[in-house]
Formats: sequence, structure tokens, C-alpha cells
Amino acid sequence: MTTDPIAIDSSATLRRGADVVRVWDPLVRVFHWGLVAAFATAWLSAEEIQPLHEIAGYAVAALIGFRIVWGFAGGRYARFAQFVRGPRATLAYIGDVAKGRERRYLGHNPAGAAMVVAILVTLSGTALTGWLMAEPERATAVSGQLAIVAPALADDDDGGGVEREADGALKEVHETLANAMLLLVALHLGGVALASFRHRENLARAMVTGRKRAAGPGDVA
Ligand code: HEM
Ligand code: HEM
Repeated sequence: MTTDPIAIDSSATLRRGADVVRVWDPLVRVFHWGLVAAFATAWLSAEEIQPLHEIAGYAVAALIGFRIVWGFAGGRYARFAQFVRGPRATLAYIGDVAKGRERRYLGHNPAGAAMVVAILVTLSGTALTGWLMAEPERATAVSGQLAIVAPALADDDDGGGVEREADGALKEVHETLANAMLLLVALHLGGVALASFRHRENLARAMVTGRKRAAGPGDVA
């Protein structure tokens, strides 16, 4: 007895269809590329076009606000509980990367997850200090305290009073956080490139289409 060729065909199609799975939901993808655009705009307009700088900075803040809600209410791979790990698991994963034997993760791997948290926290601080600078009354109240707790940060050599020093402190923190973001983005891109290479998949494209190769044996889904 021979096997029915149509049955073989349809099961092959089924298998092919199951090869790729949806990982990043549409809102995570819109969030990601929206954040890239807003951050780039804020960065490029800094000290050039102040109104645009502030609008882009507020857009960053709004996107982060959404992402925090989505980290609790979103789909499986959007949830913080799915991907955030402790320092031990993260270091173990990095050790595995160094030995070239890390597992493939369908969602964020532990190092990528740590990077997501670092980016969200750093950008929140950047937007918050920017907002305080743009709101002079709040700036005086909050950064006056900052100038007292961290005088080194407020040391801006222009001989101004506490208020001036306070503004200097805020600006200093704002700029330092913005610069830290450049470093984080560089590491982020390096991580994406490395994981794409190691697991033979285009992760940047996956952040556009939302789809990735289904989990194979040994992968973490
Ligand atoms: C300003 C620059 C960027 C920032 C601030 C940024 C930020 C982020 C954040 C917050 C996530 C987590 C996504 C989520 O779960 O919500 C993420 C993931 C990701 N980003 Fe970016 N990103 C930047 C640029 C890029 C670029 C240029 C690419 C592509 C070349 C890229 C590729 C990815 C990929 C592939 C992931 C998923 C990583 C994974 O598979 O675990 N990012 N990024
Ligand atoms: C979250 C993304 C943001 C990034 C990456 C960013 C980045 C920067 C950078 C690099 C500077 C130049 C610092 C310097 O050398 O003095 C700057 C300055 C400044 N930013 Fe932002 N910023 C962001 C958000 C905001 C927001 C939300 C506001 C206010 C609504 C803001 C208000 C300001 C102000 C008032 C200055 C000082 C301009 C000056 O006096 O020359 N920023 N920002």
C-alpha cells in the first residue's frame, strides 16, 4: 500500500506553517520603532531646536509609560514576568555566551532583558530631568535638593547662587543620562547582531514582522 501523496503534501505544509511563530505583538513593535524615532529626534534636536527636543522627549516618556503598562497587560513575550531574570541567571547566560554555548530564546534572552530594563530606566531619568529643567519652579525645588545632596554634580563654575547650581546639576544629570543611552544603544545593537549571528536569524527583521523561527530542541520558549 502506498501513502496518499496529498496527505504527505498537506502535512509538509502544516509543518512549514508551524515553523514560524508570532513573538512580538504589534504594539511592542510600534513601541520599539516609535522609541527609536523619538529618541533619535530628541538626541539630534538637543541644543538645536528646543521645542522639537521637548516634544520628542515627552514622546519618549509617553512610550515608556505605555510599555510599563504593557509589561503587565501585554501578550506573553511582552510581559516583564516572562523575560526579566535576576543577576545570577543573567551572569550565567553571559558566561554561556562567552563559551559559545548559550541557548536560543524565543523572547528576550536574559542579557537582552537586562538591557531592556536599563534602557527603560535610563530614558525615564533623562525625560524626568528634562521635564524638571523645562519647568523652572519644579527645577528649583527638586534640583535645589540635588545640589545639596550631590554638590559635585552641581559644580558648574559659573559663580551662580543655589538656583543656578541646581539648574547646572539637573543639566549635568540630564546630559550624563543621555550619553549613557548612547553606550546602551551601542551595546544593544552589538547584542542584537551577536544573537542574530549565533542563532542564524535576523532579529531586526523579527522586530519588524513580529515573527521568529519556532523553538527547536534546546531552545527556551
Ligand atoms: C535608539 C535606539 C534603540 C533603542 C532605544 C532600542 C530599545 C529597545 C527596547 C526597549 C527593546 C525591548 C522591546 C520590548 O520588549 O518592548 C528593544 C528590543 C529590540 N531591539 Fe531595539 N532599540 C534601539 C535600536 C534598535 C535598532 C536600530 C535595531 C535593529 C537593528 C533594534 C533591534 C531590536 C531587536 C531585534 C530587539 C529584540 C531583541 C530580542 O530579540 O530580544 N533596536 N530595543
Ligand atoms: C528622553 C529623551 C531625551 C534625550 C535623549 C535628551 C537629550 C539631551 C541632550 C543630549 C541635551 C544637551 C545637554 C547639554 O549638553 O547641555 C539636552 C538638553 C536639554 N534638554 Fe533634553 N533630552 C531628552 C528629553 C528631554 C525632555 C522631555 C525635556 C523637557 C521637556 C528636555 C529638556 C532639555 C533642556 C531644557 C535642555 C537644556 C538645553 C540648554 O539649556 O541648552 N529634554 N537634552
